[in-house]
Amino acid sequence: MSKITVIGAGNVGATCANVLVCKQVADEVVLLDIKPGVSEGKAMDIMQTANILGINTILTGTTNDYSKTKDSDVVVITSGIPRKPGMTREELIGVNAKIVKSVIAEVVKASPNAVVICISNPMDTMTYLIHKTSGLPKNRIIGMGGALDSARFKFNLRLALNANAGEVDGFVIGGHNDKTMIPMTRYAVWRGVPVTNFLSKEQLDKIAADTKVGGATLTGLLGTSAWYAPGAAAAQVCEAVLHDEKKLIPCSALVEGEYGFSDLCIGVPCILGNGGIEKIVEIELNDEEKALFAASAAAAKKTNEALADALK
Ligand code: LAC
Repeated sequence: MSKITVIGAGNVGATCANVLVCKQVADEVVLLDIKPGVSEGKAMDIMQTANILGINTILTGTTNDYSKTKDSDVVVITSGIPRKPGMTREELIGVNAKIVKSVIAEVVKASPNAVVICISNPMDTMTYLIHKTSGLPKNRIIGMGGALDSARFKFNLRLALNANAGEVDGFVIGGHNDKTMIPMTRYAVWRGVPVTNFLSKEQLDKIAADTKVGGATLTGLLGTSAWYAPGAAAAQVCEAVLHDEKKLIPCSALVEGEYGFSDLCIGVPCILGNGGIEKIVEIELNDEEKALFAASAAAAKKTNEALADALK
């Protein structure tokens, strides 16, 4: 029996659970929240949906009972407050670090062999906090930001190209941050043909800029952080791990010398399978991309300094 737990039944957690159930990614999914009744109610709603769709996956909701999450293969952490319009993800550190630190301790007690996927913001910083406090091996801690940012990048490219869904490939590396993420335009392709064949530099620059502020744009429109694509991107990462897909997906990983940096979590292309991050793939960066990556790593390091209190 395969089992995935999603911690946090807010918009992102519930959407992730819904996608996991609708795609029948695991035999069993558990949704846990600290607020009484919320996870039970959302689980019931999703299970009724599953019944309409003829899906037998079992989703259980629980109010903070970690024993129900026991022996999960994968645990998704969405806990914490989302950003409001005008806020950066970094402004959430103080509150979310406390929450994520206490959650990860319970998660590891209940499921010591799980692969943990972090969504909580600021995502690279919270992923680093999990490395510092959980005792889990580095391959079993994955930050999902790159999967989401890449999804936004590919969608923006697809719109500009008027291409079909799934025909455009591309990826985003660097921090999950409005200013420092790096949409890798040079490597993006439409059915194997570089997108530079179809789109002007101005068009591509606009697509990259729109991708970088993708989360902030949605927060401005919605009044809170997005959830459909974040939930679906996390489910995609769960699936790659649980089904041992060996998919190449950019994720926030602990780097130890890769791309010339150490002791921080940042978005890099990763091969995902049963072992979690089975390999960080080092692609060739040109001088401009190297400089952007260095700036992104410096920003992530600086943000990690704000964890000092949580790491005491
Ligand atoms: C976003 C949040 C989840 O980018 O970070 O939408």
